Amino acid sequence: MVSVEERIRQLKKEKNAVILAHNYTSPEIQDLADHVGDSLGLSIAAANTAADIIVFCGVSFMGETAKILSPDKTVLLPEPDAHCAMAAMCTGEQLKEFKESNPDTVIVGYVNSTAESKKEMDICCTSSNAIKVVESVRGKDVLLVPDVNLGAYVSFKTGIDVILWDGFCPVHHGITAAQVRGLKQKHPDAFVMAHPECRAEVLALADYVGSTESMLEASKASEEKEFIILTEVGMRYRMEKENPGKVFHFPEHAVCTTMKMASPESVLLSLEKGIGEVVLSEDIINGARTPVMKMISLR
Ligand code: 13P
Ligand code: SF4
Repeated sequence: MVSVEERIRQLKKEKNAVILAHNYTSPEIQDLADHVGDSLGLSIAAANTAADIIVFCGVSFMGETAKILSPDKTVLLPEPDAHCAMAAMCTGEQLKEFKESNPDTVIVGYVNSTAESKKEMDICCTSSNAIKVVESVRGKDVLLVPDVNLGAYVSFKTGIDVILWDGFCPVHHGITAAQVRGLKQKHPDAFVMAHPECRAEVLALADYVGSTESMLEASKASEEKEFIILTEVGMRYRMEKENPGKVFHFPEHAVCTTMKMASPESVLLSLEKGIGEVVLSEDIINGARTPVMKMISLR
């Protein structure tokens, strides 16, 4: 009998499909994927692929971003109900209202946002290029949505007075300074890396701050042998696989359940039956395209 994985490989060839997976997805999904990475890397892969079908294993804003960048391609989300909790914390309507009363303020939008809100943004960013993006609009009033922690971190690093929104990632915001101090006490020699979605007091305890992919690259380049990684636990898979002999500790409660929803079975169903196709109106695609294109041009 043909295994689920084998059937997926056959269908990918037959239909000229590519599988993109975020660093937080399960190991089985990462093993099946053609490209595993952070939000910026996956957006670039989606923009550049020659495939006709993009199967996106991650959360819905990622599939939407792929569709905005490649409107002529079919984008499939094997788990269409896998949403990012933070993306829901800033709506297009709220941004429209903000623009009415603050017409000269540049709206920088974290890619972890809905397509409706991207349409209202001036420029998008990911955790790996947020500093560059905000630097690019230095001298103007800037609002960064929806992540209060990313906004505060970028403001701290650039010295630019960024207006903050009150959104947050429940997974990263849930990591407390007391927990980090506990981890450091248990592993006193560990080098500490953190995602910028963590609270400021947590970032203050870290030796390195960066996106999921940049933490991975930094761990590979480092002479250190032991790390505390303050992000979602799915990152452990690549960290260990690509760093043989090094040891990684995570805050084990930091689990993003929606990032874990895609399974080989749901990928197969999606490829077979076209389940989870991302459909966006022309109006939204056209409105969101410029801010998203600006994002991928600023690496
Ligand atoms: P990265 O862009 O760093 O992969 O982060 C995406 C994300 O959702 C973090 O919670
Ligand atoms: Fe959204 Fe947080 Fe999950 Fe990332 S980890 S997808 S920011 S809820």
